Amino acid sequence: MSVRFRVAPGGKLTGRVRVAGDKSISHRSIMLGALAEGVTEVSGFLEGEDCLATLNAFRAMGVRIEGPRDGRVTLHGVGLHGLRAPSEPLYLGNSGTSMRLLAGLMAGQAFDVVMTGDSSLTQRPMKRVTVPLAEMGAVIETSPSGTPPLTIRGGQTLRGIEYQMPMASAQVKSSLLLAGLYAAGRTCVTEPAPTRDHTERMLQGFGYPLQRDGATACLSGGGRMTANTIDVPADISSAAFFLVGAAISEGSDLLVEHVGINPTRIGVINILKEMGADIEVINEAEVGGEPVADIRVRSRRLRGIRIPEDQVPLAIDEFPVLFIAAACAEGETVLSGAEELRVKESDRIQVMADGLQALGIAARPTPDGMIIQGGVIGGGEVDSHGDHRIAMAFTMAALRAQTPINIDDCANVATSFPNFVGLAHGAGIRVTQFED
Ligand code: S3P
Repeated sequence: MSVRFRVAPGGKLTGRVRVAGDKSISHRSIMLGALAEGVTEVSGFLEGEDCLATLNAFRAMGVRIEGPRDGRVTLHGVGLHGLRAPSEPLYLGNSGTSMRLLAGLMAGQAFDVVMTGDSSLTQRPMKRVTVPLAEMGAVIETSPSGTPPLTIRGGQTLRGIEYQMPMASAQVKSSLLLAGLYAAGRTCVTEPAPTRDHTERMLQGFGYPLQRDGATACLSGGGRMTANTIDVPADISSAAFFLVGAAISEGSDLLVEHVGINPTRIGVINILKEMGADIEVINEAEVGGEPVADIRVRSRRLRGIRIPEDQVPLAIDEFPVLFIAAACAEGETVLSGAEELRVKESDRIQVMADGLQALGIAARPTPDGMIIQGGVIGGGEVDSHGDHRIAMAFTMAALRAQTPINIDDCANVATSFPNFVGLAHGAGIRVTQFED
């Protein structure tokens, strides 16, 4: 089925919204809950296709899971050695997080597993995990170009390694730490820049000893996890669309509720503030080891900036919509040091530059970023290339457009934000979804 959005120009965002649950935390709640001993209760779980792919993978490996129902999931954990061989390949859809984190976990099992995905996932690079996992003793086959399907041979003896990651990737870090649960000795992963640390926090929450020292996280194999209760906060990566939408549309005043503000995820707030946005973080609290807050945004004129490179890993999923903010800002915005954007669900540098140009914005892609001149957003046709975050970013662009924006290939919005259209409509965006 093909899904298109048509978004009428103009509007403003007011009121309160609670966006979908955090995708990264939802994936990890299933993985660790399934492998813990006892019954884990999750609330606020993101019922998007990506996290459901993870959930179904564990069901296929014999874990009894109730739900999801209204964001509630009950996992009857089987312990670290309680998984059973699935009868079929694990189909992980569009989800890079499922594929890369499971690669680490599956490397330590007694059985073989094949993992595959959709046309986007089967083009994404996996050597970043399979090479260090092989160093740990894992046996994993990929396509000749290092992409899925992955065939993981069970029954290997893993050993801990010290690994210096060549890129700032939470998926690589998490994959190796999860393999480390099954390895003899100590596994230490050092990152070149801080990346989201939900795996480390949640392992500790499940009682698994893990040490952190600066950029390095270490754990030793052979431990166990005890069931836990997890309240998943709203996803700052989903909130980001509404933060930018309210910042760019005159007369907006929006409260986004109960958003996860883990310091490794708040690049979007830091960058928007530097562009001059009026953002207030209020009602800060801590829920299950993760900080949360309400975020109030009022519209204000934005200015172009050079985005500090240290913010890039902290905002890595938010650049599609930050590019829309840049298109609405006065002057030039320059992003560099973000070559990882080229290997996300789409090539987010090229696809966003093409879409911005189609709307009349001067956007010049560079190998590791983009240079955008703020200007007047026209209207017209853009293609999201099946990338959920591109589709949602261009939906927000319509708030400042002159004529309607039609966005193609939007079905994958359901991977991370199933109720996006309903919430966006309720907050003041005139978006209509067509299915054919
Ligand atoms: C994720 C890490 C990020 C991010 C992805 C989710 C995670 O990927 O882009 O959406 O849950 O660990 P990288 O770690 O590859 O940058």
